[in-house]
Amino acid sequence: MNARDLARRSFATAASVGLLLFAASWSAGRDLVPSPERPGGSGDDPIRRPKDLTGMSIKCPRVRAVSSADTAEEGATGYLFARDPWMAWARGREMFLREFSAADGAFGEAGKLGGQVLEDQATKMMNRDHVSSCAMCHNVPFRDAGAGVTIQKNSGSGRNTTHAFGAGLQETLGWQLRLKILERGDINRDGWIGKGEADRVRAIVDNLPAAVGGERVSVDFGTFGDLDGNGKPDLNPVCFIHYVDHEGKRISWARGLGEPGVAGYTFEVQLFGWGHRKGAVAPTLRAFSANAFDMHAGLQAYDPILSEEPNGDSLAHVSLAGMPQFISGRTRDRGVVKDDRGVSREDPDRDGVLEEITSGDLDLIEWYQLNHPSPAEKERTAQRERGRRLITTAGCTSCHVPDWHLEAGDPGNPDYTRRYLGDRRFFDMPVAWNPETARLEGRIERRDPAARAAFTIRGVYSDFAHHDLGPAFHQMQYDGSVLKKFRTAPLWGAGSTAPYGHDGASLDLDDVIRRHGGEAAASTQFYAALPEGDREAVLAFLRGLVLYGVDTIPCDVNADGRIEPHFQVAGMDTGLERCNPEWLFRIPGRIEGMVLNPDGVRVQSFALTNVEEAYGGRLKWLRDDDGDGFPDARFATPGK
Ligand code: HEC
Ligand code: HEC
Repeated sequence: MNARDLARRSFATAASVGLLLFAASWSAGRDLVPSPERPGGSGDDPIRRPKDLTGMSIKCPRVRAVSSADTAEEGATGYLFARDPWMAWARGREMFLREFSAADGAFGEAGKLGGQVLEDQATKMMNRDHVSSCAMCHNVPFRDAGAGVTIQKNSGSGRNTTHAFGAGLQETLGWQLRLKILERGDINRDGWIGKGEADRVRAIVDNLPAAVGGERVSVDFGTFGDLDGNGKPDLNPVCFIHYVDHEGKRISWARGLGEPGVAGYTFEVQLFGWGHRKGAVAPTLRAFSANAFDMHAGLQAYDPILSEEPNGDSLAHVSLAGMPQFISGRTRDRGVVKDDRGVSREDPDRDGVLEEITSGDLDLIEWYQLNHPSPAEKERTAQRERGRRLITTAGCTSCHVPDWHLEAGDPGNPDYTRRYLGDRRFFDMPVAWNPETARLEGRIERRDPAARAAFTIRGVYSDFAHHDLGPAFHQMQYDGSVLKKFRTAPLWGAGSTAPYGHDGASLDLDDVIRRHGGEAAASTQFYAALPEGDREAVLAFLRGLVLYGVDTIPCDVNADGRIEPHFQVAGMDTGLERCNPEWLFRIPGRIEGMVLNPDGVRVQSFALTNVEEAYGGRLKWLRDDDGDGFPDARFATPGK
């Protein structure tokens, strides 16, 4: 036993009952309730305080986060974003990785069919309450927002789990695409598209402005009018339509331009997920996450930010991280009845647990995904470079658009279609091949979210439009209706995410490319007719577009231009420099260092000796001494 352990033990013996009780809330307070946290280190009693010497497990007890824009409210989300953004990020990741328990409200309707109804208006889209954690599906790589399994959804042929690397950039692009499409079609700038206003106008958007270098593609998102006469605008299905009256107010029940009172429409660009014919999954990470918590884990959020529509025009509130939300993302728990703490008593799944997910929790998981690093590219060998050129020659990049430019934020522009959001992330982590060390290496570039700078998304390889790739990709849904169009799969990360296609039915890259037909027939034929060496080059190019372990790959965290083999944090040698968010907390995590393991072997322990302090466990809005999962400071939404 080392001196620190001894000190801790004697301290514990001498401690007052009050202190012990306090410690209990951070360790053993929940030992009667099954909980997945492992805050302990080598010196801890493994039963009283579960340990994990890799330091990779969740360390904090589940405490519902409190949303507040007021940065003076210690421990609420606004404070965390402004004062301790990495801790907010780590806590957001915990929301993604945590295996929620029944005590947290997981499940309640396990195994039931749920979700939206398909075209026959009765068949449910999926089954629900099947896993207790996002990471059960999104687990390649494990512990990041990775890709993963194929699940029962939409169709007996299933849906494959997409990854969310770089998801924040895509979300911001989604809003920008919406504005750029409106810029074409909303000629009188009243905020919506009137019938007849722009019927024959094509919604064409360029990926890059003239000043930014790269491969140029103009993407055609369809026409604004109903030229095919099916009662709906002919915009690409990535645009989810809301019909409005002559004042631009949403008519919730309207399903077509011909219905009584409909004067036009507005829309959301829903660029997440593979695609559905109608019905919103979600245009934003916040809404997607709230829906995923409910559908997959039976955890319902109560979130006024998603659920209120102040102007009746389909827009909900703007999240703390700066993303405008849509009413399509409204949560199942509306908070109509509240208790004296301000906690919603609705409990839609009737499992007795209230506010299973809070607005603050959604702030955190949104923050995590918004700032999730993007996929990387391995070495551009001569062969891979040839493959890269060939995908342009073959016409792949007419859909798999390589780059997109995010315009700088401009909230005050008198033309609302130019009020871009800009880059809202607090850091970027470019990952590139280092030929000297022959490995991928990252670098942390801090960014100021308030600066709302421009940013060019490189190498995403998608136009985010939906296309018909012919019968081999058509998906018959449970009810017999057939989905023909799917979103162009972004190819970043594709080297790590087999199997391929919305149904995960193509087990390798060659197979999924050859499966392309329909709108992609010409480029597939081009690919198939290439000499084998050229096809190999295309595949080599794609195989080099990879995901990686965000907190495990070597990374220059402190921007000194090198990756240190013995990176010092809080006086301890943490080994190879890497982006463990704990190293970057306002109060950095201090690791245990060398300890004896149960086999009597010396090992490096990454358990933290200051878990509670580093993770802000005593901050007003995070402190939960009674262990009920709600902060003791109660819940009346501060600053609102
Ligand atoms: C049971 C498996 C499963 C679980 C659990 C799960 N997801 Fe997913 N996720 C999927 C599948 C499948 C898709 C693709 C869905 C589609 O398009 O039909 C997806 C897509 C996504 C996307 C869209 C990414 C993109 O660019 O297309 C996001 C974001 C996402 N999930 C977030 C989450 C979050 C947050 C959680 C936890 C609250 C979660 N998911 C839990 C299976 C899962
Ligand atoms: C007309 C637009 C279009 C063209 C051209 C096109 N693709 Fe695709 N691609 C798509 C769409 C849409 C999907 C998703 C289909 C689905 O899963 O339903 C896709 C999926 C893929 C996937 C699977 C990715 C994943 O994560 O599952 C790969 C790989 C791919 N395309 C490579 C190529 C290559 C290489 C070419 C050129 C030879 C090409 N594509 C041409 C639209 C296109």
